[in-house]
Amino acid sequence: MSKSFARSAAFGVALVSAGALAALAPGCESDGDRRDGDGGAASASTGGDGASPSGKGGGAGSADDPFAPPATNALPPALRDGVFAAVDDALGTPAAPNAREVAPAALVASGRDAWKTRRCAVCHGAEGRGDGKRALLEDPRPRDFGRGQFRYKSTRMVHKPTRADLVHYVGQAQHAELVAEADAGERDALAAFVIWLAMRGELERNLAHVANEEDELDPDTVADERSYLIESWSEAPSKVSKVPPAPWEGDDAARAAAAKRGEALFHDAGKGGCMTCHGKGGTLEGATAASRAEVRDLRRAVLRGGARPIDLYRRIECGLAGTKMPGFGGHLGPDDIWDLVAYTLSLRG
Ligand code: HEC
Ligand code: HEC
Repeated sequence: MSKSFARSAAFGVALVSAGALAALAPGCESDGDRRDGDGGAASASTGGDGASPSGKGGGAGSADDPFAPPATNALPPALRDGVFAAVDDALGTPAAPNAREVAPAALVASGRDAWKTRRCAVCHGAEGRGDGKRALLEDPRPRDFGRGQFRYKSTRMVHKPTRADLVHYVGQAQHAELVAEADAGERDALAAFVIWLAMRGELERNLAHVANEEDELDPDTVADERSYLIESWSEAPSKVSKVPPAPWEGDDAARAAAAKRGEALFHDAGKGGCMTCHGKGGTLEGATAASRAEVRDLRRAVLRGGARPIDLYRRIECGLAGTKMPGFGGHLGPDDIWDLVAYTLSLRG
């Protein structure tokens, strides 16, 4: 079974500019474990406690193309096979997945079956590498889960999402229809399988990186890398950012006043600065050319991360890993963010 897994990891790199995040979102990076370097804040890189022992969590390289040449396959055959075997050993194979510290093997295995019946691989690829048949038709493209980078989550930029985040996300927007008939247990299993795929992909990247640097792969490195991944996924629930209740909850007049203040913030280049990318009133009018290609009209766009006020709060507080949108958590206080949420929702009528 594991042989059917095409070994085609792309050595990608986070798309978030670490510099931009440092400038705009110190709040989201203030947990003391921000990792600097090419991987940006969203994927692991060098330095900081909790960083991958190899110091290359999210993978090295500079290509942002998920279809970039496979790094593992570029290793000399003996080393390459060593990496594959080490990954199978450390986390099991699709036939017998093993990341029991993170999720029970039976749950991951039933997620694997659901991944097939719900046809997730059509876009994401059998291994979640973002190379499914339909991947090229999608905009944005599904990403390689092995980058360890997830956009829509309740934890700050550097942290992994929780399983609950993935369950919630997969029920939203373009995914909702796919899982409309799946019960809570099946969604949970799918999320557990996504985590397992992400761990496998990331482990392979990290080991390939070490093997490439050191021309060998010793068992201690494999054990360290495995523990690092287990820890970063297991700790996610303790990293969920606390969101204070919306001050305007259940009070229409207060909400309208908040939306008014939010409108001013949205268009104030020195404060929210949302307009730079989203344009006047979120319509893209006057937005920079670079962002026009990437950003959608906020009045109509499907909110991929969910349309609950708390979903929007989290998007604005911590940004979207892998896009140009930074987090504003260190720049704006909770009241400001709630004002922006009220304004964004008001745009949608
Ligand atoms: C029609 C194509 C398609 C199918 C089928 C599909 N996805 Fe996705 N998925 C995407 C795209 C595109 C993205 C990237 C969305 C984005 O960046 O906003 C994505 C992103 C994701 C993410 C990452 C979310 C994040 O926080 O970054 C997860 C998890 C996910 N999909 C799970 C699933 C599961 C589970 C299934 C099967 C039930 C599935 N997908 C089926 C297209 C698809
Ligand atoms: C540097 C550019 C940039 C800035 C500044 C920016 N955004 Fe974004 N924003 C993006 C990009 C890129 C996306 C992802 C593409 C999309 O969904 O349109 C996005 C997506 C969003 C989404 C959709 C999230 C979802 O779940 O689909 C919301 C809401 C949003 N931004 C609000 C804001 C607000 C409010 C501000 C100001 C506090 C802001 N943005 C500032 C670039 C930016």
